[in-house]
Amino acid sequence: MTDVREVPNDAGDVIQFLLNQHQQVRGLLDDVLAATGEDRRHYFDTVREMLARHETAEEMIIRPLTRKAPGGEQVAEGRMDEENEAKEVLAALEKMDVDSAEFAQKFREFRQSVLDHAQAEETQEFPLLRQNNDPDALVKARDRVKRAEDMAPTHPHPSAKSTAANYVAGPFAAMLDRARDAFSSSDK
Ligand SMILES: [Fe+2]
Ligand SMILES: [Fe+2]
Repeated sequence: MTDVREVPNDAGDVIQFLLNQHQQVRGLLDDVLAATGEDRRHYFDTVREMLARHETAEEMIIRPLTRKAPGGEQVAEGRMDEENEAKEVLAALEKMDVDSAEFAQKFREFRQSVLDHAQAEETQEFPLLRQNNDPDALVKARDRVKRAEDMAPTHPHPSAKSTAANYVAGPFAAMLDRARDAFSSSDK
């Protein structure tokens, strides 16, 4: 049976796909702060995995389209700077105890910068892409993103229970490498 949560991602173009992921990320950022201990660790791993796939899709598939649009170079650069900053904050967070006050404070800052970044994409970048690309091209871009994300081994298969129990997420930098590999090989 089809999981209804997957339907919206199948119904639109790449912008709709990324907007749906923004909503999921917003929810997970709140989940991290609302939880403690193992649960907080779990949500922190989940949001990092989601961001690794999402930001890689934007870097490899969206940014080249943005740069081609009039005035797009500056818009693309602004978003890349924000993403690179977020990666540094994540690397710092990964060294902290998730239950420490230090982590909670830093994570609140991280959450706000991710929210600001998503809003900048939604108000500056995505409208520019809609104006300057054929609807068809944006549907094809969604197919590319979906294909690559399906290949990205950034999280254990839901049915692989024993693997999931032993699963260690590892650093964000490694998640990004795996996502980039999947995007590169999905084009071959
Ligand atoms: Fe982004
Ligand atoms: Fe985004």
